[in-house]
Parts: sequence; structure tokens; C-alpha cells
Amino acid sequence: MSQITAFGTYVPEKIIDNHFFEGLIDTNDEWIISRTGIKTRRYSKDGEYTSDLAYKAVQNLMESSGKDISDVDFIVVCTTSPDQPMPNAASRVQYKLGIQNTGCNDIYAACAGFVYGLQMAHGFINSGVYKKVLVIGSETLSKITDMSDRTSCILFGDGAGAALVEPGEEQFLAFNSGTNGDLGHDLYLSHKKNSINGVGINPNSKIVQNGRSVFKWAVGNIPIKIRELVDKAGLTMDDIDYIVPHSANLRIIEAIAKSLDYPMDKVPESVTEFGNTSSASIPIAIEKSRKNGGIKKGDIVLMIGFGGGLTFAGTIVRWNL
Ligand code: COA
Repeated sequence: MSQITAFGTYVPEKIIDNHFFEGLIDTNDEWIISRTGIKTRRYSKDGEYTSDLAYKAVQNLMESSGKDISDVDFIVVCTTSPDQPMPNAASRVQYKLGIQNTGCNDIYAACAGFVYGLQMAHGFINSGVYKKVLVIGSETLSKITDMSDRTSCILFGDGAGAALVEPGEEQFLAFNSGTNGDLGHDLYLSHKKNSINGVGINPNSKIVQNGRSVFKWAVGNIPIKIRELVDKAGLTMDDIDYIVPHSANLRIIEAIAKSLDYPMDKVPESVTEFGNTSSASIPIAIEKSRKNGGIKKGDIVLMIGFGGGLTFAGTIVRWNL
């Protein structure tokens, strides 16, 4: 039986508004807001990488909870933008924290990563393999964004969120996940290979997407998967106090809420202020909601991440903080 016992986030200081892009590409503030809802995002500094943001999110978790993490026995970093492919980002966080005897692994599931991380932590703890697991979603997407591609560069931001998962009264009520690898070529980052599913791709080490296809897939599938998850937990939509989807784009989030006939004021988001921060977007949205008097102890919170794969992962938790 497992639960989230501490939570923390971090976003870099540098605020980038939409006017920043007007000097780079043919776009404007009004277009970006109307198509994405994004007003600002944060960019990491030169020399500031994903493990640095992850470390700061864990520091925030420690400060806000007073939790000792010296005996954490597993760290999982969910990211699409590790400092480098090897060593993994989790090992860099372990080094910065100075924790001993800690297993380290990264989850590479794009915007679904954080929820996959929670699923993994739940499995580790409930099987008795580990007792204290740090799940971190951290991204420096600004470093892998093609600043000449106006259909994608406006979307992404940097940030991190961390959750400590420990044994306790069961807080996780259900999980689900699924993947459409047949759409893998619609959202990718390739260092070498120049095709996916036989479709030519650009191995430019930057995020490339077919925005319309991803949009259509998310809006068509995620509401169905949310209903399936609620059923799996033996609940009804009325039991769900908050739905926290990946903050990809405000229009996607609004379309998901509309399709479910679910009120938008019960759908915390981080995209308007922080852009699409991939695996960090759900924890940042949760923290923002908590600070604004939204999510509180006892609430039933559904999280669902979705993105490159194309893959999704969902969970329902009884929030305990
Ligand atoms: N500024 C101004 N115009 C832009 C632009 C920009 N930054 N980006 C694209 N356009 C133009 C297009 O070139 C197109 O022009 P055209 O009609 O002359 O060809 C027009 O705007 C409409 O483009 P379209 O692609 O239909 O826009 P859209 O409404 O689908 O919005 C996205 C584009 C990328 C914002 C949207 O598809 C999206 O958010 N998709 C999901 C992406 C996502 O969330 N990815 C991560 C998932 S985890």
C-alpha cells in the first residue's frame, strides 16, 4: 500500500513571453494565445540542465515537508531532455543529493512520464521491492526546441516536479496506460535515425511534431481513457474532484473537459503560465492549484499524461497532503 507523502516543484527564473518569438519567427502574441493559451514560459540558463531543475524540485519537496530523504532507495527521473543519454538524469540527482545506496533509472515516456513514474513507484512499494521512491518529472525543453519551427517552438518550457512515494494507507485507486506506436512519427526527437514507421523524419536532435495529428489523437482518445480509468476505480465522474491532464495546450484541455461535460474550474493547468513542460506539467499544475486553494487533502484527483509515443498513462489518487 503506497501514498505520496511529499511534493515539490521548481521552475527557472527566466520568464519568456510571447513577444520573444516575434523576433525569431513569423508569429504574434495574439496567435499564440488564441491557439495554445500560452502567455509565458520559463527557460533554464546556459549551463542549467534537467538534473539541476530536478534537484531544486527535490529541495523544495524537502523544505515544504521536512522529510528526510537520505534513505531514499530508488530515484526515477521522468524526462525527454536528460542532461545527456548516459549517465541517466536520476544518477545526476543522486550525486547532487549525496544519497547512498540508491537505485537510479530514467523513464523516457515524454509527457506521460510522471504518471508512469508514479505507477512504477506504486509497483515497487506494493511488491516490497523498495520503501522510499522519489519520482521526478524534469525538463529543459528549451534546449531541444527548434527555434526556427514556428509550429512547435512557441509551445515548450522548462520546469520540474517531485513526489515522494512511501508505504502507507493506499492512496492510488486505479491506473491505466496505452500506446499508439503507429503514430510515433507525429511527435519525435531523433539523433540519428531518419524514419519511423517508414515515414521520413528529421534527425536534428530537436522536438518535431505534427501538431494537428497530436491534437486530434489527444482530444479523440483521452476523454475515453479518463472514463475507463474512473470505471476501473469503481467511481463515477461526480466522484472526481479534479482532473489534471498533461498541460499540452489549453485548447486540448478545454476540448477534453467539454467532451466529458466536466467543469474547467476543476481542471488545474500549468500551460498558460509555464508552457508545455512535458513530464513536469502535471506536478506543476497540481502545485499551482494547491497554492491557489484548489486541490486539498482528501480530494480525489485524476492525473493523465499523454504525448510522444504516442502514449498515455493515468492514475486516480486520494490526495493526502
Ligand atoms: N504563428 C503564426 N502562425 C502559425 C504559427 C505561429 N507560431 N504556427 C503555425 N502557424 C500557421 C500555420 O502555418 C497555418 O498557416 P496556413 O493556414 O497559412 O497554412 C495556420 O497557422 C494554422 O495552422 P494549424 O497547424 O492548423 O494551427 P493549429 O490551430 O492546429 O495550431 C498547434 C497549431 C501546434 C498550436 C496545435 O496544432 C497544437 O497545439 N497541437 C498539439 C501540439 C502539442 O500539444 N504537442 C505536444 C503534445 S504533448
